[in-house]
Amino acid sequence: MIRIAAVGDLHYDRLSRGRLAAHLGALREVADVLLLAGDLTQVGHVEEAYALADDLAESPVPVVAVFGNHDFHSDQNALVRGALEEAGVTVLEKQACRLEIRSSSVGIVGLKGFGGGFVGACATEFGEPETKAFVRTTKAMARYLHEALLELDTDYRIALLHYSPISGTLHGEKREIYPFLGSYLLGEAADEGGADIVFHGHAHAGCEKGETSGGVPVRNVAQHVIRHVFNLYSLNKEGIVLHQGLVPHARLTPSHAPDQ
Ligand SMILES: [Fe+2]
Ligand SMILES: [Fe+2]
Repeated sequence: MIRIAAVGDLHYDRLSRGRLAAHLGALREVADVLLLAGDLTQVGHVEEAYALADDLAESPVPVVAVFGNHDFHSDQNALVRGALEEAGVTVLEKQACRLEIRSSSVGIVGLKGFGGGFVGACATEFGEPETKAFVRTTKAMARYLHEALLELDTDYRIALLHYSPISGTLHGEKREIYPFLGSYLLGEAADEGGADIVFHGHAHAGCEKGETSGGVPVRNVAQHVIRHVFNLYSLNKEGIVLHQGLVPHARLTPSHAPDQ
């Protein structure tokens, strides 16, 4: 059994320093790893990344993160990545890492993912080059997720995304924006790659719990959805369980309400 703390969409800005720090110590007793599901920063500025990095440096457990769309806004993602890595955070951009947690090996495939929509209402690779580029970006993400999951020889295979692989965790969002919140191709990749669990964020008004058509559990851990500092899950081969109440209940109120 492994214990996973997870949250997405922290949306740190320059004034957020300290917002997370006070709560990280609690993870020592209850979690083996902290997963951050993208939108780490508000506009992807390196100063925002240093504010978050200063907090995460205090984490008593390994921190693994992916970027979200916000983290690219200032075209400083290399600097953002560097700031976080200085603090010991593992940032995965179409990459995988391996952790040994007690007697279990855990593989984490991390990528932002992308949009495109869901079966019956999705973009296709047709027409203008811009549309083709959009869909091809998502296809490349899904292909990587599929192949990287299959390559893992670990006891557990975790997919860490920002965009959603299913529509089931988007309930609460406007249907009109579903194509900008995720893609079914990511869900198919999780199924075919044999993921044990998928975490994502991005859908601030969505819901926490869903599963792929192949039965892989999916959890939307956007901070606005979970309404806790972290959600804490235990994962074993029988499934995943959410442990409400084992983590601080104080809300982390973003300094301003960001878009997705
Ligand atoms: Fe986002
Ligand atoms: Fe977000």
